[in-house]
Amino acid sequence: MSYRIQDVRNTLSIVTEDIENYIKSQKIKVGKDGTISKKSYQILIDFYSQEVSTINSRKNGKSSYVLNGLKIDVKSKPFYESEDHRVSIFQDDAINFLKGLPTNSVDVIITDPAYSGMNQKLKLGSGKIIGVYKKAGENGAKWFEEFHDTEENYKAFLEECLRVLKNNRHIYIMFDSYSLLTLAPIVRDVFEVKNLLCWDKVNIGLGHYFRRRHEFIMFASKGRRPLNSKSIPDVWKIKRVTSAQYPTQKPTEVFELMLKGSAEKDFVVCDPFLGSGSAAIAAINSSCMFLGCDISDKSVSFSKERINHFLKHKTDPFQKLSLVGDDESMTKLFLNGKSK
Ligand SMILES: C[S@@+](CC[C@H](N)C(=O)[O-])C[C@H]1O[C@@H](n2cnc3c(N)ncnc32)[C@H](O)[C@@H]1O
Repeated sequence: MSYRIQDVRNTLSIVTEDIENYIKSQKIKVGKDGTISKKSYQILIDFYSQEVSTINSRKNGKSSYVLNGLKIDVKSKPFYESEDHRVSIFQDDAINFLKGLPTNSVDVIITDPAYSGMNQKLKLGSGKIIGVYKKAGENGAKWFEEFHDTEENYKAFLEECLRVLKNNRHIYIMFDSYSLLTLAPIVRDVFEVKNLLCWDKVNIGLGHYFRRRHEFIMFASKGRRPLNSKSIPDVWKIKRVTSAQYPTQKPTEVFELMLKGSAEKDFVVCDPFLGSGSAAIAAINSSCMFLGCDISDKSVSFSKERINHFLKHKTDPFQKLSLVGDDESMTKLFLNGKSK
């Protein structure tokens, strides 16, 4: 059997220059046809798939970052990387960030984008459904930067998700009812939609007519993959986070349920709209690796503090209690049927 540099490159998504420099530094002999000895092949595989390594090859203002043999080009190095190198977060625009990830490199996407459509398009009676957001950072602004979910932008986002997701893997995208009305057909154009899940927040919220108590989660796949369990219902009773310290902070259990359905140990989980980092906490709890991104300073600082604390103390400073609702299937899934 012949061993080729090309195979190392393809298996581990390594950039040509990186591998060539390493070959030179190790004085590895390469045949004219690009073949190397079995021993050299093993040296390269071992070097590049070591648990996590960071290659800061700053060329043209870019840096390359390697997570478990996965090459990631980012404009800057991670804003935060955990000591065990299993969790990394970046400050960037979601589409830009995804563009820096290699094709077929992520195992599950779980995300909750900041939709702007409900302000821009949908009106109820004479008024808008909710007030106009102030620009992030503006005096009195309560919210964060919005993702501009024009059809074109949203499609570009989904196409990047499709590209980075490995084959036979799952994606979960959260929606409020209004965004769902306009954006769901675009998801169906790009992914195979399997279910529309309902997150029942248990307690009633605001609303002009019927008061809101739910959000939707679209569950879709790239290729075919069964769920890990056939006992998860399509309505998830999990209480909302009250007095959240980050606007729209979601309960970690919502993301954990997604991972109960779709993740395996050491899967790379990605959330390009990180917010308070709830998806990161869920990934750690599910023994997965995590790649997250958010455009806002507040989000990445908040998430860094939360993840660091969680890894050190095994407690979540921003969601101290379980929010699992009083529901037989939820208690079975989270508490093995025991009451809280
Ligand atoms: C609904 S929140 C996410 C909340 C998160 N799931 C949680 O539990 O805390 C949406 C996030 O998207 C971020 N955001 C807005 N525009 C973005 C963009 N273009 N790229 C990346 N993140 C963006 C906002 O800063 C905000 O933190």
